Amino acid sequence: MRKKVTVVGAGNVGANCALRLVEKELADVVLVDVIEGVPQGKGLDLYQSGPVQGYDCTITGSNDYEPTANSDLAILTAGFPRKPGMSRDDLLVANYEVVRTATTQIVKYSPNCILIVVTNPLDAMAQAAYWVSKFSKNRVIGMAGVLDSARFRTFIAAELKVSVENVVGVVMGGHGDTMVPLVRLSNVSGIPLAELMSQATIDAIVDRTRNGGAEIVKYLKTGSAYYAPSAAAVEMAESVLKDKKKVMPCAAYLEGEYGIKGLFVGVPCKLGARGIEQIYQVKLTAEEQAMLNKSAAAVQELVDVLNKKQ
Ligand code: 2OP
Repeated sequence: MRKKVTVVGAGNVGANCALRLVEKELADVVLVDVIEGVPQGKGLDLYQSGPVQGYDCTITGSNDYEPTANSDLAILTAGFPRKPGMSRDDLLVANYEVVRTATTQIVKYSPNCILIVVTNPLDAMAQAAYWVSKFSKNRVIGMAGVLDSARFRTFIAAELKVSVENVVGVVMGGHGDTMVPLVRLSNVSGIPLAELMSQATIDAIVDRTRNGGAEIVKYLKTGSAYYAPSAAAVEMAESVLKDKKKVMPCAAYLEGEYGIKGLFVGVPCKLGARGIEQIYQVKLTAEEQAMLNKSAAAVQELVDVLNKKQ
């Protein structure tokens, strides 16, 4: 039987998630949005691409959650995007309400699904979805590390003029300015980054990665990135739906790993049919651990604000 995926939010990220899911024939998709007609229209348009693209998956659009019933997986993208000058954190309170409402509905109709959260500020929204869903921690996963690593890998590959496929780029921590690109663990087909470029070049690439989202917001002016974010979310979904057990950085609920407790922070995870099947604890240097602590503290600040709203 074909898998079923709910995508909440029919904006640019959500619609592109739906497109990528069906183009890879991963699942039938139900696209949900509060705006009347938009999920239905985009859903139908995507459905009608099937004969040309050669996929048989169905896509339906809806303003309510009934058609989402018994989804295997849900991708939560709904929320307000950033505008130039805004940080992801500026979206906290408004998007908390969106995530709270959507999660309640997802859980009502698909109590056994795996939930991938994409809405910003990412780590805090994953935490909100975890609280509201009451799912076990392995079933709530935040998408950020795959995107941040993709940006890191893109810039490394461009600098060295090598295939992106050969570049391993590891980014941990929260999805914000304090994210932690781990240069020591990044390499090109096993060759350490430090042996391939100068420290100044590495620093520039790390800086560009940290500001990768803002760079795009600055160009677009009316919103934030969506091609790479949707690609990242769907790579995670694929690993879950096909039980591929890929290892990638995801925002996961930590209970003491890396010395962090009760908080969603980006760490390397194995994704399979049960969601997060393993969290890998890499030995960090004191400097790397300090950066991760700083990043976790930034996430904690946002979570504290949400805690007061609970
Ligand atoms: C980004 O980094 C939207 O947070 C997303 O582009």
